[in-house]
Amino acid sequence: MKHRHLPRNRVGVLNPDGHAIGLDIGATGVRAAILSPGTLGGRPTVAVEGAGQVPLPRDAVKEGVIHDADVVTEAIKQLWAENRFHCRNVVLGVANQQSLVRDLRMPNLDPARRAKALPYQAKDVVALPIDQVVLDYCQLGEPDPETDMVDGLLIATPREPVLAAVAAVERAGLRVARVDLASFATLRAIGAQHLAVEAVIDLGAHLTTIVVHDRGVPQLVRTLARGGDELTQQLADRMGIEQIEAEALKCESGLDSDHAEISRALIQGVRPLVAEIRTSLAYFRSAHEGAVIERVSLTGGGARLGGIVKAIEDQVDLPTRLVDPLQHVSNRDDAPSAPDATFAPPSAVSLGLAMGAAA
Ligand SMILES: Nc1ncnc2c1ncn2[C@@H]1O[C@H](COP(=O)(O)OP(=O)(O)OP(=O)(O)O)[C@@H](O)[C@H]1O
Ligand SMILES: [Mg+2]
Repeated sequence: MKHRHLPRNRVGVLNPDGHAIGLDIGATGVRAAILSPGTLGGRPTVAVEGAGQVPLPRDAVKEGVIHDADVVTEAIKQLWAENRFHCRNVVLGVANQQSLVRDLRMPNLDPARRAKALPYQAKDVVALPIDQVVLDYCQLGEPDPETDMVDGLLIATPREPVLAAVAAVERAGLRVARVDLASFATLRAIGAQHLAVEAVIDLGAHLTTIVVHDRGVPQLVRTLARGGDELTQQLADRMGIEQIEAEALKCESGLDSDHAEISRALIQGVRPLVAEIRTSLAYFRSAHEGAVIERVSLTGGGARLGGIVKAIEDQVDLPTRLVDPLQHVSNRDDAPSAPDATFAPPSAVSLGLAMGAAA
């Protein structure tokens, strides 16, 4: 099963103009990235055709789950209108702390028979009742010619939040052509396919996704219910200030603030998150004897906190870096490298969702 990348599949997900659209619904905003497939030197590439985001008010989306569907639908409509997006087929990202990804070897079946067989294959590994999850299977490589078995990944995600997200998107006049895990999208966007083993981490507001992959094949996928918002909360509580003020102070100060009270609150706030990342990587190492994680690659708004790269590096004792979400995009040099008032780089999740369809 090693050395085989997550499959990419264009069928039914490309728009009539050949573009693929990834849609990421996060706690702080809805974001879309539009990509077009191409080739460069005989190798498949993707180019960004458009991207945009619209912020969401607090509590509309919490821990990956939509709590105010009308607000989300309106934000998506606004995203399409403001950016003059015309295409309507989207790949939607889902993230949920209860999502599960496991290796699963199963008989080589056609898609319809596989869909019927999956609940039986999954019932022993999925903690939630089978009728409350959406099951998917991601085949990795060709069937074994002797046994006619295939290797792949079983993906189980709580059903209700996925259906609610699809409904909110479709009420905005779009069509959800495919649903994909946000963590897989992050891996496609920022993972280094040549690396033997790398940990790819998206630090969001409420959720942190971790994928440890071996040359593009996920080996460990975890979603932690932790993110940048808890630091803001910690700072607000400690300083006795409003959330909005604490948010600005956090972004401006970072972990190395000269103000002792601020840096203490932020360092304390980030500790549980960093500890859980370390525990997840330690678990991977114990389950994969001899595997050496070569580096940790970070993305997401939370990774922009001053000092966090070093804080994680010190704790996990591995080379750690912030990765440009546009790194695998052929026209990245046309985009400004740093976020500014007029250009926000597309999220790794929205890009990776579109890449799964376009490349
Ligand atoms: N410059 C910055 N310094 C510190 N933190 C930042 C900075 N910019 C953004 N953040 C934090 O990043 C988080 C938002 O990240 P992101 O936009 O990736 O989350 P999201 O995708 O909306 O949420 P989630 O994935 O959890 O649903 C917030 O907690 C925000 O405070
Ligand atoms: Mg996110």
